[in-house]
This record gives sequence, structure tokens and C-alpha cells, in this order.
Amino acid sequence: MASYTKFFVTFSMVFIFLACSSHAQLSASFYATSCPTLLSIVSTAMNQAVSNQQRMGASILRMHFHDCFVQGCDASVLLDDTATFTGEKNAGPNQNSLRGFEVIDTIKTRVEAACNATVSCADILALAARDGVVALGGPSWTVPLGRRDARTASQSAANSQIPGPGSSLSALTTAFAAKGLNARDLTALSGSHTIGQARCTVFRNRIYNDTNIDPAFATLRRRGCPTTGGDANLAPLDIRSPVAFNNDYYTNLVGRRGLLHSDQELFNNGTQDTLVQTYSTNNALFSSDFAAAMIRMGNINPLTGANGEIRRNCRRLN
Ligand code: HEM
Ligand SMILES: *[C@@H]1O[C@H](CO)[C@@H](O)[C@H](O)[C@H]1NC(C)=O
Ligand SMILES: *[C@@H]1O[C@H](CO)[C@@H](O)[C@H](O)[C@H]1NC(C)=O
Ligand SMILES: *[C@@H]1O[C@H](CO)[C@@H](O)[C@H](O)[C@H]1NC(C)=O
Repeated sequence: MASYTKFFVTFSMVFIFLACSSHAQLSASFYATSCPTLLSIVSTAMNQAVSNQQRMGASILRMHFHDCFVQGCDASVLLDDTATFTGEKNAGPNQNSLRGFEVIDTIKTRVEAACNATVSCADILALAARDGVVALGGPSWTVPLGRRDARTASQSAANSQIPGPGSSLSALTTAFAAKGLNARDLTALSGSHTIGQARCTVFRNRIYNDTNIDPAFATLRRRGCPTTGGDANLAPLDIRSPVAFNNDYYTNLVGRRGLLHSDQELFNNGTQDTLVQTYSTNNALFSSDFAAAMIRMGNINPLTGANGEIRRNCRRLN
């Protein structure tokens, strides 16, 4: 009887453990005892990076998005290609476009010096993305932590699952729904395009061929983006305040001054028009919706528990 009870209790504990670990949740206090200086290391480094170059806040935010949409937020995007390993850096949406990897390296080096072999690259990226937004005057939020780093990457998933700048509203909502994000999340997260830059090659078709565009804006952008050549020429995604994180992106859309075709799809007589209009006049609502949507995006399919690893160097597997 006693041994049966013991067996039953043990069995129940194993069952509860398995049940919990299969629904593992991230937690803001995950490193509270194992790495208490983590948050200040990351925010100090991001403030330095953004004061060196304001665009870096945007670049790191985008890197987190491209991480989360491919296999989940698992730092797969940070792995370098090698002779025997194909990462995501040369996928279409990333090649000659994603930037800021050296900033993550710097943060990782400092974090390793303080808390050896403890903090994942995926968590560092999630924190750095938040701190870049804050450094540019945007909202803050508490970042759930405890992600682990992937031992795999997928160039093909990066090519097929990150939506492109020519996407229709229906393609955008489908791509976000595939990651558990709804249309409101799509519209709020697209507000990221209140900061950062885009290359001529991704907006050329819009400024020459789209009709739902402010003509003066099209003329202005054509000056820096010829019909052929100048593919890498940059223009700000937000014409009003390109290094301030605010709701001006939505004001642009209402004025048909979205830079990307995909941006203007959110205000083109479709389901998101009302929300775009609302965000354009209500920065507080945009800020709180953006923060909530960033937490949902950061929760996409994390590796937890004994899955994955804590990479020593974010660019390669241990
Ligand atoms: C809704 C679908 C989206 C599409 C089609 C899209 C597309 C793009 C494109 C084409 C660029 C310019 C890249 C280049 O020319 O090198 C860009 C830049 C950027 N994207 Fe998105 N994006 C989307 C959603 C997001 C989301 C969800 C975030 C963040 C949560 C984000 C953050 C950014 C940032 C911050 C930049 C500027 C990066 C820099 O200056 O380095 N985007 N995006
Ligand atoms: C850091 O951790 C790695 C892996 O656990 C170990 O090999 C290395 O000796 C540690 N370094 C220090 C300085 O503790
Ligand atoms: C405009 O659209 C046409 C037809 O799709 C295409 O051939 C042309 O390259 C586009 N022009 C630019 C500048 O993208
Ligand atoms: C929406 O539809 C109206 C009426 O059909 C049209 O005048 C307007 O240009 C459209 N707006 C956009 C952003 O396409």
C-alpha cells in the first residue's frame, strides 16, 4: 500500500512535470537570480548603439521579427552560414537587408562576462528589440524570458514565411495568422515602420506603379529611386519622423504616403482602415496595442526547458 502510494505520487509528479513542460511559459523573472544584471547590460548597450546610430533601434527590432517568424523566437536568424550549415542570413528577406548582428555580439559578450552560459541569444534579441524602441521614444513593456536557442535554422522558411513588401492585405493577414497573430496585431506591429529605412528595390514598384499614393510623395521618392539602378538607395519608412517611435506611420497611411505597397494595404478601403485612422489620432492606444502585440510575437513557439541550448556565441551552435 505504502509503495503503491509512493509510486502513485511519483507518477503524478512526473505527469505534472511533463504537463507543465509541454506548456512551458516564459517568465519576466526567469534570470532574476541567475543573471540579475542582464536587463541593465542590454539596455546600456542598446542606448549606446542607438546613440551611435539611431537606425540601429529599428534594425534590431526587425531582426527580432525575422527571428520569431521563422521556427519561433529561437535566435535561428543569428546563425552564420558555414560550409556545412545553411542559416537564414542569405534568405531573400534578410540578405543585404538585416543589420545589427555585431550589436548582438557585443551584448552577448558582456552578458557572458557577467553570467557565463546562462542567457540565450533569443532572449537577448527580444530584450534588445524592446530597448531599441524605448531608446527612440517608443513604449516599453515587460519582456517574458526563458527562451532557448535553436540548433537548426531554415532558409526556406525564411523565404516563405516572412511576408514581402508587395503583399496584399489578405496575404499579410494570412502570414500573421499562421503565427497566431490576428489582423489587429498585424496593424499594430506594422507601426514598427514608424522608424528605419527601406531600399529602393523594395518600394520602386509602389512609387512608379501604384495609384493609391500621394502624387507629391511619389515624385519625391522617385528622385532617390530611379526606375533602374540605385537598388540600395535608402528612404525612411516614415516621412514625418523617421527616428522617433510614434504613430506618424498611420498618419502617413491616411495621407496615402505609405512607403511600401504592404504598408498602404492597411489603408486602402479594407478591414484595417478604421483601426489605422484610430491609431493615427490615438498614440496611447497604438502604444498599448503595440506593446501587447510585441509580447504575443515574442511568444511564438519558444524553445524551453531542455530543448535547444544556450549558445556561447550567437553566430554558431555550441
Ligand atoms: C507586415 C508585414 C511586413 C512587411 C511586408 C515588412 C517589410 C519590410 C521591408 C521590405 C523593409 C525594408 C527592408 C530593406 O529595404 O532592407 C522593412 C523594414 C523594417 N521593418 Fe518591416 N515588414 C513587415 C512587418 C514588420 C514587423 C512586424 C516589424 C517589427 C515588429 C517590422 C520592423 C521593421 C523595421 C524596424 C524596419 C526598418 C529596419 C532598418 O532600418 O534597418 N516590420 N520591413
Ligand atoms: C564558461 O562556461 C563554459 C561552458 O560551460 C566553460 O567551458 C568555461 O570554462 C566557462 N568560463 C568561465 C570563465 O567560467
Ligand atoms: C510597373 O509594372 C509593370 C507591369 O507589372 C512592370 O513591368 C514594371 O517593371 C513596373 N515598373 C516599376 C518601375 O517597377
Ligand atoms: C476608396 O474608395 C473611394 C471611392 O471608391 C476612392 O475614391 C478612394 O480613392 C479609395 N481610397 C483608397 C485609399 O484607395
